[in-house]
Amino acid sequence: MIYKATEENIERAAIRLKADNLVAFPTETVYGLGANAISAEAVSKIYNVKGRPIFNPLIVHIACASDLNRVANIPAESKLEQQIKALLPFWPGPLSVVLPRNSQIPDIVTAGLNSVAVRIPAHAVALKLIKAAGVPLAAPSANPSNYVSPTTAQHVEKILGDRIDFVLDGGPAKVGLESTVLSLLNPIPEVLRPGAVTLEQLREILGEVRLHSRASSAIGANMRLLSPGQQDTHYSPRTKLIFRHELSSIKQYERVGLIAFSADGIGEHNYSLINVLSSDNNLSEIASKLFKALLEMDQAGLDLIVVDSCSEEGIGLSIMDRLKRAVGGNI
Ligand code: TXA
Ligand code: MG
Repeated sequence: MIYKATEENIERAAIRLKADNLVAFPTETVYGLGANAISAEAVSKIYNVKGRPIFNPLIVHIACASDLNRVANIPAESKLEQQIKALLPFWPGPLSVVLPRNSQIPDIVTAGLNSVAVRIPAHAVALKLIKAAGVPLAAPSANPSNYVSPTTAQHVEKILGDRIDFVLDGGPAKVGLESTVLSLLNPIPEVLRPGAVTLEQLREILGEVRLHSRASSAIGANMRLLSPGQQDTHYSPRTKLIFRHELSSIKQYERVGLIAFSADGIGEHNYSLINVLSSDNNLSEIASKLFKALLEMDQAGLDLIVVDSCSEEGIGLSIMDRLKRAVGGNI
């Protein structure tokens, strides 16, 4: 059920979390499916509800940087400590940092890795909830594994409502794409998943930063992935999805939906449904509305969804990262 994020309902949600139950809650990126990160039993419920493979680790959410040492292991005066200090201006915000983990965090959260991904979300409801629960919250996006991430409480209810009973509604997510995942485990920082905190911004602060290539993401014979969110098929709608520039004719399809980034050149084909994400090709606006558009089109009984593309710079890199995988995922 959906509960408006009143003080009273945030308190009720916190009580549920303390009792090792799950709560879906808003963040500025996408909605999360939260559990007490210190409790292996609570966290195991996340994997069950999402149908998530246990080798895919979770992000731990904290309310302030002074709680970092509850989840991570950051030696005093180290280079790592300096890097984290330099990144503090991005927090609260859409940046998750992979750090050596604190042994208080159970194996199931990190999929047995010696590292943990941590972030401080920039959403008043999320911060209140974490503080009221009094524990760090492990939270993946609140979608069934491999499906599109939800950016509204209504979408959480639609795609997971039969498996969870508490969704806190804090309005639509402003960023609309999952956080940037940055690993600080090696001497050269590496972006494992691009997001609204851009590669360009990170390079300005940290100097050299690598972009993880998906092609080389498998570590070991068991194909365990460094950042399993980097699997090629992910975020896919059930309806066939293709890029507009790859479309020659839609004649063989009866009902086609178009997700356009701007109003340019829409008249060429006879679409059954059109969603224009921005009047002036504003990439932040496009990012914030993209998943909602994909989910809505996917529920509309179409034969094909056609989507625009953009250049892979700034936040455009993360928009195209998600779209390429969504296109790749359902063919
Ligand atoms: O914006 C977000 O990050 C949202 C909201 C709810 O905070 N959460 C989210 O979680 O997107 P999830 O589980 O859907 O994606 C977590 C990503 C995955 O790609 C996972 O592989 C990676 O973070 N990750 C988590 N822990 C890691 C670790 N120790 N090392 C490498 N990658 C890690
Ligand atoms: Mg996810």
